[in-house]
Amino acid sequence: MATSFFSSAPYIPPDAIFALTAEYLADPSPVKVNLGQGTYRDNNGQPWVLPSVQKARKILEEKGLLHEYLPILGLKGLRDRTSELVFGEGYGSVKDKLATSQAVSGTGSLHLAGSLLRGKLPKVYIPTPTWSNHNLVFASLGFEVIEFQYYNAETKALDIDTYLSTLRSAEPSSIIILHACAHNPTGLDPSQEQWKQIGNIIKEKSLFPLFDAAYLGFNSGDYDNDAWAIRYFVHDLGLESAICLSFAKNMGLYGERVGVLVVATSEPNVAKNTQSVLEKLQRSEISNPPAFGAKIAETVLSDEELKKAWFGDLKTMSGRIMEMRKGLFEGLNAHSSGTWTHLIEQSGMFGFLGLSRRVVKTLKEEYHIYMAENSRISIAGLNMSNVEYVAKSIGEVLAREK
Ligand code: LMR
Repeated sequence: MATSFFSSAPYIPPDAIFALTAEYLADPSPVKVNLGQGTYRDNNGQPWVLPSVQKARKILEEKGLLHEYLPILGLKGLRDRTSELVFGEGYGSVKDKLATSQAVSGTGSLHLAGSLLRGKLPKVYIPTPTWSNHNLVFASLGFEVIEFQYYNAETKALDIDTYLSTLRSAEPSSIIILHACAHNPTGLDPSQEQWKQIGNIIKEKSLFPLFDAAYLGFNSGDYDNDAWAIRYFVHDLGLESAICLSFAKNMGLYGERVGVLVVATSEPNVAKNTQSVLEKLQRSEISNPPAFGAKIAETVLSDEELKKAWFGDLKTMSGRIMEMRKGLFEGLNAHSSGTWTHLIEQSGMFGFLGLSRRVVKTLKEEYHIYMAENSRISIAGLNMSNVEYVAKSIGEVLAREK
């Protein structure tokens, strides 16, 4: 008899991005730079609690925070205000056709959407590269995961031809994972014209669009702008869709795990039934979602003044990231002979540099600059004090490679 019930458990290496954060934290070097995990930092390299969030927290504290359970589907106010934000002026026309549930941030929303679709739509098409959790969530739910090339490493651009031909040959009733904006890791989003092509093929082929919408408002600083593709799919094309929202990045509520799953269905009765299924799934998975962060987000979104302040905070964060992207671009042009136009053609939190694994390793080991192995950098880790050092270091390592 085996000595343990777990003797067949394999050893699974730690998650790469969390392991990188741990390595960075353990590094005693005073010059270290963390460009790994996607978390916003201010110009002093510090976490930033959004002023709108601070005010909401104060309001909640004054009210007296209770620690009661939330309903199984979470806060209705948060679900409604979030849907209103996502659909903008067209909200009224889809309102009755939505099934919504609060979820445990972006990953929990994806998982809940996957649980809803499991057994009905067997295949998931995932762009490559993508956020590593897409594969993990859908494979662990038993979906057949099909990867397709999203990025052309030679041109350092979106491979729209492969994208469109993959959609054309995809099996009907398959799920397509779409990054609503700020594609992670490449920072390359389709143009509005390309989104139209993508959406129309999805419609023609009866595919199911599942939006990972973790960066709305954080990408461009304008929520409406960042929600454009979702609105086009639902309002203009009339597509049923799942939208997985997170308030980690755009409200800085990383650890509170605030998310919402919005499922746009074809008719009110379908929405009602779908919502009842979500409620049952949620009950079996987590019983009911976490309250504190959800109350903060609901407070921000329900108070016109706070909401306005939050829109300002989104501009502050995205504006600083854009400035740093430009600063790095200029620094790289000054300190290396390479071409870096791809960096300013990308947008959002991440820059996809296109460096070899060896260069990435040298930057970590010799210069204490930490980035994902595929040379994705979280631009928010740059600031006025380290951007020159990073650009110069990359230039030095690349010169050595020649
Ligand atoms: C990232 O991509 O770095 C973040 O979304 C953090 C994570 O959970 O991977």
